[in-house]
Amino acid sequence: MKKALCLLLCLAMVVSMLTACGSSSGNKVGVSMPTKTLQRWNQDGSNMKEQLEKKGYEVDLQYADDDVATQVNQIENMISGGCKVLVIASIEGDSLGTVLAQAKEKGVKVIAYDRLIMNTDAVTYYATFDNFMVGVKQGQYIEDQLGLKSNAGPFNIELIAGSPDDNNAHIFFEGAMSILQQYIDNGKLVVKSGQKTFEQVATQGWKTENAQSRFEALIAANYADGTQLDAVMASNDSTALGVANALASYTGKYPILTGQDCDIANVKNMIAGKQSMSIFKDTRTLAEKTTEMVDAILKGGEPPINNTTDYDNGKFVVPSYLCDPVFADVNNYQKLLVESGYYKAEQLQ
Ligand code: BGC
Repeated sequence: MKKALCLLLCLAMVVSMLTACGSSSGNKVGVSMPTKTLQRWNQDGSNMKEQLEKKGYEVDLQYADDDVATQVNQIENMISGGCKVLVIASIEGDSLGTVLAQAKEKGVKVIAYDRLIMNTDAVTYYATFDNFMVGVKQGQYIEDQLGLKSNAGPFNIELIAGSPDDNNAHIFFEGAMSILQQYIDNGKLVVKSGQKTFEQVATQGWKTENAQSRFEALIAANYADGTQLDAVMASNDSTALGVANALASYTGKYPILTGQDCDIANVKNMIAGKQSMSIFKDTRTLAEKTTEMVDAILKGGEPPINNTTDYDNGKFVVPSYLCDPVFADVNNYQKLLVESGYYKAEQLQ
């Protein structure tokens, strides 16, 4: 009798152990990406999925079609579906407070991915690139190319920044202006359109078509009479693409044009001489660091953190890891993007 009871108990234990192993709720991670329309987020999503799965996690990867309500809905499903950690690249940094309060209540940890999630204490860590440095590199490139330290100028420049609801957009712009503003102030750089503040030069949703229509109007109003446009500081590749499209109606010497992300269309434009540089943010490295954070949360251990001062989300300074952004142009893209295996050579043809 005792033996039978023992056997039954053992069996019950084995069954419960088996179900525990089979059930993934212990190690499920939700990855919420903003959109599939911009190339980089597809790469971010698949890198995250691949690297988390390699470490044995089950991954629920969702793209929100740049729609805040969809993203909130997907995050709610991740929470109710048993995810223990959420990795979120937000569409609007300010719109996730309510859903993340639910996450916090259930003990679900949140990593803000690439973009800081604002005004909530439910964020655990932030993994991103050094966003200020991205802008600084763009500004320095224009400074070098126009020789602003020694040349008197004046040179004509126009500015285009990212989406006002993305915290990064403000930081990129601040970084670029930390170099360029002095030259606007001393008259070496002239912004003929008069559009100089972040609010005036922002691009809702980072959309190429919004960038293009603003620049078409701006070129028609200021540069249609043969006035030379020397440089355009564009914060990223989707806006730079809009500028390049709009420049079809401009007949002067092609301006210096900055960007960020090394999207395929923009690398092609660099090769064709229609964009001067971009910033390479290796999303494989970002995924690696974020995966280490997930691991630290779920298995214990030290998360990679290298910044505890700069990223205040309105509630607290979020412990962050900043990856290094790298300068890319037509001279180094081969080594940086092709030889490193980021792209295949034929993707850039
Ligand atoms: C990212 C950029 C990207 C932009 C538009 C920003 O938050 O940091 O890499 O170009 O969003 O998607």
